[in-house]
Amino acid sequence: MFKDLEIVLQTQHIVKQFKTSKNQMLVACNDINLTAYKGKTLGIVGESGCGKSTFVRLLTQLETPTSGKILYHDKDIVHFSKKEAWLNRQNIQMVFQDPMASFNPKMKIIDILTEPLLNFKRIKRSEKETKAKELLEMVELPADFMYRYPHSMSGGQRQRISLARALSLEPEVLICDEATSALDVSIQRNIIQLLVRLQKEKNITIIFICHDLALISSFSHQIAVMYLGHIVEVIPGEKIKDGAKHPYTRALIDSQFSVHLSQDKQIKALDGEVPSPLDIPQGCPFQSRCKYCKEECRKEKPVLKEVGVGHQVACQYSK
Ligand SMILES: Nc1ncnc2c1ncn2[C@@H]1O[C@H](COP(=O)(O)OP(=O)(O)OP(=O)(O)O)[C@@H](O)[C@H]1O
Ligand SMILES: [Mg+2]
Repeated sequence: MFKDLEIVLQTQHIVKQFKTSKNQMLVACNDINLTAYKGKTLGIVGESGCGKSTFVRLLTQLETPTSGKILYHDKDIVHFSKKEAWLNRQNIQMVFQDPMASFNPKMKIIDILTEPLLNFKRIKRSEKETKAKELLEMVELPADFMYRYPHSMSGGQRQRISLARALSLEPEVLICDEATSALDVSIQRNIIQLLVRLQKEKNITIIFICHDLALISSFSHQIAVMYLGHIVEVIPGEKIKDGAKHPYTRALIDSQFSVHLSQDKQIKALDGEVPSPLDIPQGCPFQSRCKYCKEECRKEKPVLKEVGVGHQVACQYSK
């Protein structure tokens, strides 16, 4: 899509299957081919359970794909040794929805912030205070916060700490999995503004997962729309509102342009049942909810096809 930009991370035919307790095979990611570019944001949207977190857990090596390649600057990280995978954590960092879950509540902010730097021997113990001050400044928090514990901070402040900790190692790629979803709208906006500023300053590649299409399109350079483990559309962020072509993306947009999708709040504009990821139908994964579904759609699975610059759609009837 960005012809002159360096490709930082690329997945090729990534598949992830899980075996359930009843010995059934659940396909969480189904032939995913996505590219993240230097200094740009790739947004990923889709309903609950469509495989977004599984996909980024593969990128951060928290899970191993069943098949496919994950190229970080042409190096396939899937087959990295333990040592190489550990070293690669410095390049690809992740921020989660609930910072408390990734912090040790007994640690002060100064220790939370500098732990990764000490682990990788990037600073000396005597430099902890100076570094913590610098990191707090970067995320616009006062320096004396370094002596606090995470429980004495607000959700938004804690998420800034997560961000500072993730960026402390100066990663090339930052992955945010619903990093702002638990925050109220104005705090969410502040964190996004901060992310956008830091991206410009440090030329970071961001992969941002979110349920809110309006929010994600406000700052993503490209958006991948996921449905039942498949990528059904990839589109430049600024084009999504008027240019989206896949019936699923259109339904997401039409239902409301700012929607929080979850299993209990289904998309109003869509009828039909969501198939189980344990039993993905032959043909198009979206067939049971698509008002344009034809006989061919039940037979053949559509592949992503180029329909414009940086725009791909997996639907036989999207031109
Ligand atoms: N370790 C696992 N074992 C078995 N199934 C799993 C495992 N991890 C995820 N899944 C299943 O894979 C599918 C995709 O889950 P995933 O967490 O990636 O979805 P998601 O798009 O991130 O959803 P949400 O928006 O709710 O966070 C779901 O059906 C989930 O139950
Ligand atoms: Mg998730």
